[in-house]
Amino acid sequence: MTAAQPINAYISGTGFYVPPRIVTNDDLVNGYGIETTNEWIIQRTGIEARRYAERGVGSAELGARAAEDALADAGIAATDLDLIVFATLSPEYAFPGSGVLLQHRLGLNEGPNARHVPALDVRNQCSGFLYGLTTANAMVRSGAARHVLVVGAETHSAALDLTTRGRTVSSLFGDGAGAVVVSATTEDRGIRGCYLGADGSQAETLCQRVWDIRERPFIPLGEDGWGRVSPEHMYAHMDGRMVFKHAIAKMTGVLKQACDDLHVGLDDIDLFFFHQANLRINQYVAELLKLPADKVPHNIERYGNTTAATLPILLAEAVDDGRLRPGAKIALVAFGSGFTWGSAIIDW
Ligand code: ACO
Repeated sequence: MTAAQPINAYISGTGFYVPPRIVTNDDLVNGYGIETTNEWIIQRTGIEARRYAERGVGSAELGARAAEDALADAGIAATDLDLIVFATLSPEYAFPGSGVLLQHRLGLNEGPNARHVPALDVRNQCSGFLYGLTTANAMVRSGAARHVLVVGAETHSAALDLTTRGRTVSSLFGDGAGAVVVSATTEDRGIRGCYLGADGSQAETLCQRVWDIRERPFIPLGEDGWGRVSPEHMYAHMDGRMVFKHAIAKMTGVLKQACDDLHVGLDDIDLFFFHQANLRINQYVAELLKLPADKVPHNIERYGNTTAATLPILLAEAVDDGRLRPGAKIALVAFGSGFTWGSAIIDW
């Protein structure tokens, strides 16, 4: 590659991993005693089942398995990476982030060829993968990195209120991880543009507080000196109808923004990869934009909402089943807590 040639960033490898344990909607009723029904959940969300990781497994482990898959697909070693970007809302610890835990799992700090690849954590929930992809794209196009690993991984099952009280939120989410390698190329292909947005006035519409750093101490103490976290702080709170409404407006808006900016018509796009929050949201968006259903792949029925992981899992599955092939023009769109949202257009 010479300095005169423009550097493009393309996705050179995809991978995913979901834990083996399948939890169906009926399992939520029969195994956890939640007052819900298969019909209620399917009708409102399209979700039939999700995966739950076993105790002892966290987001870095799920992410590392997806990353190994993506690295193998890209045909590079972990030591070839210049940066790791890890998107999750379910990190192992408050700090450090899961990125360094994943970096360690990839064996990068061991042996005479240790390569202490930097690891960056992204805290943008369902838009986390697109925020990470945007960062990777910028790093590669600027020449600062040749290969960037972008991982989205979630272990929601540990932090769901798996009782009737929490059913609105807990019926939606599942565990899983997806990863891509973003690499430099001088070919005329790859990520054409990334578009991000945020509206912090809606931060509390969908949030999981756990603690409040403005309080002293940040978690209330009981008389025994132990921290006490109330259920409303411990588990995610969501105004589902507000999320639904804003998701439709922002997803259509940020997709149009990408198309207008890049002079791409919706008809030019072969496949639309939408964040898998709720099948009904995506069907609504597709209907508004008159997108044919066969151009909008989905897998939420099998995995539920895996937040930062939905897009890279969907991409990896589409590569594996042959739907996504080199030469395809695709759009990625996401919306999530924050509120945050984003889109990208890629010539695969
Ligand atoms: N099973 C049975 N009943 C339930 C369930 C359940 N799983 N969950 C809620 N209900 C009940 C409620 O308790 C309520 O009962 P009440 O009337 O006696 O109080 C009733 O159903 C209606 O509750 P709503 O919350 O108003 O239900 P709604 O029709 O809005 O559907 C849902 C809830 C599916 C969450 C919907 O609002 C939605 O899809 N919103 C979008 C949110 C979303 O997709 N979030 C994903 C995470 S965010 C992200 O990834 C960006």
